Amino acid sequence: MGALHNVSEMRIRSRSVRARGSRLGLVPTMGALHEGHLSLVRAAKSKSEVVAASIFVNPTQFGPNEDFTRYPRDLDRDLSLLEREGVDMVFVPSVEEMYLQQSVTWVTVEGLSDRLCGKSRPGHFRGVATVVAKLFNIVEPDIAFFGQKDAAQVAVIRRMVRDLNIPVAINVCPIVRESDGLALSSRNAYLSPEQRRDALVLFRALMRARELFESGERNPAALIEAAKNVFAGSPAVRLDYIEIVDPDELTPLTTIDHPALVAVAAFVGNTRLIDNIVLEP
Ligand code: PAJ
Repeated sequence: MGALHNVSEMRIRSRSVRARGSRLGLVPTMGALHEGHLSLVRAAKSKSEVVAASIFVNPTQFGPNEDFTRYPRDLDRDLSLLEREGVDMVFVPSVEEMYLQQSVTWVTVEGLSDRLCGKSRPGHFRGVATVVAKLFNIVEPDIAFFGQKDAAQVAVIRRMVRDLNIPVAINVCPIVRESDGLALSSRNAYLSPEQRRDALVLFRALMRARELFESGERNPAALIEAAKNVFAGSPAVRLDYIEIVDPDELTPLTTIDHPALVAVAAFVGNTRLIDNIVLEP
């Protein structure tokens, strides 16, 4: 497995894979890999003949006061995990390689980019869409793998691919959780043992909403209120949002008569965590 640092090297390698007629899968990541990321790699291995991963902590999707500089980075560990999973190539560009000086072109998925995390993290989805579009142009994968963990990111990327006719299939993999329900995240590494316990409130609130839904409640406002009450029991956690939205449009639903995304974001100390479930009537 080779780590490729330049756009041109990456392109030569991926073009030669495609010239041989092999199906190329791409798993974009920001590194600090965990079982959630590795589940995407395994899906890619099962659905494509050659697998590329990328590791790039993308500065343009972080806000000015966010954790870009302290985001966990451990390239050696990440590379050995990917090697063990049988990944064929890893694209590890520098910021200067990805963003040429005076880059002024952005991809904005209008409307979607301002919803859920886009509301509390202005510019976040513009950064995500732009870097993913760049990765698609550089690697030209047949199929790309994303996690349901970032459900709004999935909606943004699907819409971008559709609107810009990007020839890539998007494959979405289920959320990988700890045994107590906490969704795996690179940011869980920031949590103290006490915060780790508090962090479970996101999952518990989602489970409360699911429980009510399964007992027949179809009014999103009632589900949201019940989930918020779960947060009331954890004063150390600051709820950012809990919303019930259409999974593709990310617009709030007034009744649940088709699959509904229940998405939550909250701060545990300074650490912002997200989670979600889909309710299927
Ligand atoms: P990152 O947070 O590193 O996540 C990379 C991929 O792993 C994303 O598709 C994410 O949804 C998925 N993932 C993370 N935690 C997961 C979990 N617990 N279960 C399943 N999948 C999980 O998302 C990004 O990076 C960036 O925004 C990126 C797409 C790479 C663009 O910079």
